[in-house]
Amino acid sequence: MLDFLGDLRRTHTCGTLRPADSGQRAVLMGWVNRLRDHGNLIFVDVRDRTGVTQVVFNKELNPALHEKAAHLGSEYVIAVTGLVKQREPNLVNKNIATGEIELVAQELRILNVSKTPPFLPGEPVLPNEEMRLKYRYLDLRREKMQFNIEMRHKVSLAIRRYLAEQGFFDIETPFMTRSTPEGARDYLVPSRVYPGSFYALPQSPQLFKQILMISGFDKYFQIVRCFRDEDLRADRQPEFTQVDLEMTFPQPDRVFEVVEGFLTAAFRAAGQEIKTPFLRMTYDQAIRKYGSDKPDLRLPSMTDVRQAFAPENLKTLNVDPRLPVVAIRIPKVGELSRKERDDIKPLFGERRNAKLFEDAKRLEKSFPEAMAKVRELSGAEGDDLLVLVAGNEHPGEHPSESIVGPEVKQHDAAVYTAAGALRVALAQKYAERHGAFRRGDFHFLWVTDFPMFEWDEEGKRWAAAHHPFTSPHEKDMDKLESDPAAVRALAYDVVLNGTELGSGSIRIHRQDIQKKIFHALGMSDEEAKARFGFFLEALEYGTPPHGGIALGLDRIVMILAGADSLREVIPFPKTAKAVDLMVDAPTPVSEAQLKELGIAVRKKEMKA
Ligand code: AMO
Repeated sequence: MLDFLGDLRRTHTCGTLRPADSGQRAVLMGWVNRLRDHGNLIFVDVRDRTGVTQVVFNKELNPALHEKAAHLGSEYVIAVTGLVKQREPNLVNKNIATGEIELVAQELRILNVSKTPPFLPGEPVLPNEEMRLKYRYLDLRREKMQFNIEMRHKVSLAIRRYLAEQGFFDIETPFMTRSTPEGARDYLVPSRVYPGSFYALPQSPQLFKQILMISGFDKYFQIVRCFRDEDLRADRQPEFTQVDLEMTFPQPDRVFEVVEGFLTAAFRAAGQEIKTPFLRMTYDQAIRKYGSDKPDLRLPSMTDVRQAFAPENLKTLNVDPRLPVVAIRIPKVGELSRKERDDIKPLFGERRNAKLFEDAKRLEKSFPEAMAKVRELSGAEGDDLLVLVAGNEHPGEHPSESIVGPEVKQHDAAVYTAAGALRVALAQKYAERHGAFRRGDFHFLWVTDFPMFEWDEEGKRWAAAHHPFTSPHEKDMDKLESDPAAVRALAYDVVLNGTELGSGSIRIHRQDIQKKIFHALGMSDEEAKARFGFFLEALEYGTPPHGGIALGLDRIVMILAGADSLREVIPFPKTAKAVDLMVDAPTPVSEAQLKELGIAVRKKEMKA
């Protein structure tokens, strides 16, 4: 039989009672976290989001109440009235904040029962993830998830406050809109009124925020859901949240200041202090030194040690002397095991341009002098792991002739990025040997001067490296047609410990330049007009210079929570296959609904 709540009022939450409250009457409400039946004494830990309190039911004091408590089960919802009592020193539980007291029960109301849960939120063992996602409401009751979601709240509140104080307006933009080109596929929403027509869910509010600048709002921000149908990974969800902002007349520096300001506030809200201003590096330097446009600065950079080898030596090793020889140094990792070597080999399987020299040990015998020089150049010490990556011998014309990005030559870049991927894999070995990286070790970085265009091998054309509204460097405007690869963009990324947190740019504010970019991207006037006509038109009515950025809120919180997947910081996430296991979405819809929308589903194709 269940009890009604009646007029009972909660006096305290479950994490708040202390010895100073001894002798007081308290009414707690929450879930049965754990039960221990010691015969005459039954101990019930009652839990809410603030913590747990131990409640004692004593048979000698109140046999009927003790009998009632004997019928409780895990995750039942109860209201207990009792007297706060300080525990004997030998019974104090130092692991919980209320561990110095207990509540001696005087009344128990059972407000609701629970089926036996598939896993207990109060137990430290973690069930498999499928189970956690299916019963997300139980999973969210776990202390860690409560902590993560609370942190998410605090972080987003701190960002909101900071930006509002800086004069940014929080302005909403539509979810039912047109396609925004951010490089993923759109989620589409069919229109009932216009059969065959679709809204697209925004991949980002990019064009709306630019139009808000044209509309004179000066500074905009939004903590906003974005939708992208793309291949999912641990740091990607089909719907995710951006801290999105845009401002009028900014230099990139001004955007950096704002981002550094709100990140300082966000990290402080999570109990972490960070140093500003962040380090800056051009795309070109990032590729040369780290083989990546999102370098993890927690480990040393790579070094080009080509000069350590005589050209004949490189010939003997089938290495192209015109390409870099990259030394990767991972401190205090020692030798790799046979299995570890095998694990990293696939990294080089498809990279015909780069080759792995196993590790320095093997070369030491044949080229002692060169290797002494390599050690000196790379700063390698005793038990550091040193691995070299070089360019494969390349027949024919000088491979460095074709270029990608503002400066790094394509074939050089292939060696650097192969080495960069290996560096990231080896950093994992460092983390394993040293029990992960130190928490709170935050290495922020601005990567600037990205290339404007990337060569799309499949489509055989240039694609926008950021998005097509990004402004080229003023100095590179004249190369838009003659030498697209050499055009630098006023684009920047903010990177933290090897993760891209955010991306932004100064935008094109002139219609003539926007048209040129569409041309360079192989888009005809008609196509540009069909896709972005409204925007090109808006550009013609006095558009001020403007720029901004968007950061992934989920990624920020993931790093702050020390989690390794976004699913740990999103209350109701989707699996890697874009499925919501709790509500079971997506689902087929009824024939009637399809008919109303004028949609026919081709069943065969769906299965394929
Ligand atoms: P971009 O596409 O780089 O830029 O996105 C900005 C940031 O959003 C986060 N992010 C994601 N997080 C989780 N899951 C995803 N699928 C996902 N995709 C992106 C990342 C990323 O750095 N409109 C531009 C910004 C601008 O130019 O102002 C944009 O959306 O942290």
